[in-house]
This record gives sequence, C-alpha cells and structure tokens, in this order.
Amino acid sequence: MLGLATGSTPIGTYEKLVKQNVEGKVDFAHVITINLDEYVGIEKNNEQSYRYFMNTHLFNHVNVSMQNTYVPNGKADDLSIECQRYDDKINKVGGIDLQLLGIGHNGHIGFNEPGEYFEGNTHVVSLGKTTLEANSRFFASIEEVPTQAITVGMQAIMQAKKVLLLVNGVDKEFILNKALYGPITPKVPASILQLHPDLTVICCLE
Ligand code: PGA
Repeated sequence: MLGLATGSTPIGTYEKLVKQNVEGKVDFAHVITINLDEYVGIEKNNEQSYRYFMNTHLFNHVNVSMQNTYVPNGKADDLSIECQRYDDKINKVGGIDLQLLGIGHNGHIGFNEPGEYFEGNTHVVSLGKTTLEANSRFFASIEEVPTQAITVGMQAIMQAKKVLLLVNGVDKEFILNKALYGPITPKVPASILQLHPDLTVICCLE
C-alpha cells in the first residue's frame, strides 16, 4: 500500500516509475494507493483536482487498477463522512507501507497546515495564506484556489511503515532545517517526522 503525494516535487519520481513500469521493472498490479489530499469543491475530472493530477502523472500510464487508487472526494455531500470513510479505508487495507511526502514552505505535510495541535484523523482543513499563494501558480488567480481541502491526518502518516520525504529547491532549505532540527511543534507540522522510526529524506537544495 503506497501513500502518494501531489505537487511539483514528486513529478520526477512518477516519471521514473512510469518508465520503469513500461520497462517491466516495476509492477503495480497488486498495488493499492492512497493519496494524501484533495481540494474541497472540485470535481475529480477538473484539471486542478489532485485526482486528475494523479491520473495524468501516474495512474493512466502504469498497470495499477484504477479501483485500487484512492483520493479523497472533495465533492462529497458530507465531508465528515468522507473523512471517516477515508480513514476506514486506510485501516481496512492495513495502513500505509511507504508514504511519499513533499513539504510546503510553511512546513505542511499533506495539507496538515501549521496550527495549535497535530490533527490525527483525516479532516477538512482551511488552507493558510502561504499555501494559497504557493498553489496559485497553478490557477489563473489566487481567488480561484480552493480555500479548503481534505487531508489525511498525522496518524496515518506516522503509522506508515516507511516515510520518504522529498524536498526540492533552495527555497525549501529554511523550512527543512526547522522540520528536521527544530523543536517538534504543530507550528511546523513536518517536525513530527523527527519521531518517525523510519524516515528517509531526499533533498536537492539547489
Ligand atoms: P510542491 O508542494 O512539491 O509543489 O512544492 C509540496 C507541498 O506543498 O507539500
């Protein structure tokens, strides 16, 4: 069971996985994927949705069974039921074996934004100003960026057997330092990863 992330950072990873799948080196036939997050209020076939991102960057090009790919439904009638359903799904398949993560400039992982406490369960989150600004690069204007998202919480991430944090760009150096070497605090959500027993960080800070 693979926990997957969206954003610019993992695109190269997905390109490599597609290539290796085509070459017969990687097989997705029995893989279940659980994505970290999805915008609220966006249809899954909307180009801005994270479902669309995953389909176009990975799922459409590898031999994964679409019914084994999970992304939260940001258009669910009842978002709290959707969050519960998502956690139930993660638990039913026995948790995440390998969780791929990026990090936001504000230290978020998934859409676990800086706050007063670490939120354990999948939940609806209001996106902070830094996140809205960062993500506006994919939209015509910042006003078009959805202001809410569903995100997997810290419990599923921390219970993943392995966590792989990918960090790309010198602009992430400051927050990566804080996350790895600063105090463990919900104000820097990624700092919780210091407590994970099997964390690998791959970073390119150029
Ligand atoms: P990025 O996003 O890979 O587009 O920088 C990472 C994140 O916000 O988690």
